[in-house]
Parts: sequence; C-alpha cells; structure tokens
Amino acid sequence: MNDVTAQILTCLSTADDFLSGERLCGTLGITRSAVWKHIRQLRSEGYQIDAVTGRGYLLSGITGRPVHGEVLPFLTCQRFGTTIDYHALATSTNMLAKALAVEGAPEGSVVVADAQSGGKGRMGRTWISPPAVNLYFSLILRPAVPSIRVPQLTLLLAVALRRALTELSPGLAALIKWPNDILVNGKKLCGILCEMQSEPEMTHFVVAGIGINVNQSEMPPELKECATSLFLERGQLFSRPQLLALVLNHVEPLYDEWLHQDDLAFMLPSLEQYSLLQSKEVFIDQRNRILKGTVTGIAKGGELQLQGGDGETILVSSGEAHLLKK
Ligand code: BTN
Repeated sequence: MNDVTAQILTCLSTADDFLSGERLCGTLGITRSAVWKHIRQLRSEGYQIDAVTGRGYLLSGITGRPVHGEVLPFLTCQRFGTTIDYHALATSTNMLAKALAVEGAPEGSVVVADAQSGGKGRMGRTWISPPAVNLYFSLILRPAVPSIRVPQLTLLLAVALRRALTELSPGLAALIKWPNDILVNGKKLCGILCEMQSEPEMTHFVVAGIGINVNQSEMPPELKECATSLFLERGQLFSRPQLLALVLNHVEPLYDEWLHQDDLAFMLPSLEQYSLLQSKEVFIDQRNRILKGTVTGIAKGGELQLQGGDGETILVSSGEAHLLKK
C-alpha cells in the first residue's frame, strides 16, 4: 500500500461519518480522480468502502491487518505509533527497524509485518512467523540512558504486554517469565527481543521486537508442547490492530516513567505479582555455567534474585531460566 493510499485509509478509519471526496482532496492535496484511484486500490485490498453521491466515502469493512489506518482508531498514546511501517512479508521487523533507526527514524516508530521469513528469537533461535494470524512488530526507542540500563526495558515491555493482553482478554492468566517471555498455562504466548546500538555512556537506539501468537489455530508439532496463542487459550479470534495499539498504549507511559527514574523500583510490585518464577526453584542456563536457586524476587536493576543452596543471594543478569519442578 503506498503512502497516500495508507493516509486515505487512516482518514476514513478515524472519521465518524461519511467523508467527502472534496475533504480528502483538501487534506491530502490530490485530485478527485486520484482519490478515486486510491479508493479502488483499497477495495482491491479487501476494504469495504461505501460511496454515496453528495455524502462521500464511508469505511464499512476492514481487513484486520495491523496497518496504520486500522491501528489508529485504538491508539490513545501520544507519540508511539505515529508511524507504522507495514510489510506483508519482512525477513525480520527487527532488521528493518534497525535500518530505519540508523537512518534517523524517530522514537516511537513501529515496523510491523504480516509474516516474517527470518523472524529472530533470543539466543540465535528462529521465531516462526506464519502470515495473517499473529503480530510481529518492532518499536524504535531512543532512551537517553547509559546502555547498562537497557536490559531493564525487556521487563518493562513484559509488564506492558501483560497489561495489554489482559485489557484485550480480561481474566487471561498471563505470567511473565523473566526476562522476556509471557506464558499462559505454562506455554509461551509472546517473546521479546531487544537489540541496541550504544556506547557505554550513551544509547543510540533500541529496537524492541515483539512477537505475539494471536489467532494461530494450530502450532507446528515441534512447538505444540511449549507454545500457545490467544485463540487456542480463549477459543475466539482477536483484532491484531487493536492488540498492537493496546501494547503501544501501555508501553508509552511506563517508558516515560522509567526515563524519569533510576531503575525499575517503581514497577517491582507488578513484576513480582505477575512473575511465573516467584518463589520457585529454578536453574539458569548461562551457556558456560548453570546457576541454581529459589527465586526471591527481581532486583531494581532488573536482575533475577535467587537464594542459592548455601543461603547466599545471587543476582542473575542474563541467561535462560527453567523451573526445576513444573
Ligand atoms: C524470543 O522469545 O526468543 C524473542 C522473540 C521475538 C520475536 C519478535 S517477532 C518481531 C520481531 N522481529 C524479529 O525478528 N523478532 C522479533
């Protein structure tokens, strides 16, 4: 969809009533015949648009794709999501967002894809990204903080994601598995992959990549035991544009608050309340070593706090956590 077509969709989706052709011409600085050409394009992409002589155009049917024009009616935040760069197929939204960030894209810009051919997970894994069912997006952030604070963002995003998910589907038993997963009934629903470009004292940008299994009705055999979707948990379809907007609506205020604080202390009650690992015996795989202990909380720096076998406190800043007993 080209920029003008996308702008017409945005105008139509945020209008309360019919929008006249004249108004669209004036807003976008294009001719009537150009407006008509873009309306035809939108219809060919699956949008239902009623045209009534003397009244104009009314959007009466949408596609459910997470494009700007469909996300905007649900957005209530101020800065995030002003730009949503939609791709029917991307290799990885994180890769595209990094390229945009290098070119100077502003904070709050979002790259979203309907499908990914090379979706990236943590630890070099692949994020399976089939078309038309899930959400795959990356948010560009430019926090003016030392790079040592950046890992805290993953936990901030996890809290925002949990809030967004339970706003969309009240009662969803979504828990945060430190540091970057949201699980429901022991299976993974969302993953977060933050990548940054920084110097020790300065963060140039962070690309916060988020994958949420939304309407996927079947998991591939190799993921059946460990992954789930909102559809599989709740037995209904959900609006991807609405969920994307809810995530941005919840991330922005938490992020703004975090920028004014020195650490995550203000969020610890939420983090611990929704932590899957709280008070559990775990082992942490750090590739070159394994740590074991009972989780006693999350430190204000974002580290997982364990009590080891000898009663000592261990602060874990990286690695993959596993429950010793499920
Ligand atoms: C993980 O749990 O391992 C993190 C998964 C992150 C997946 C998302 S999908 C959108 C963005 N683009 C990517 O290539 N990865 C992230």
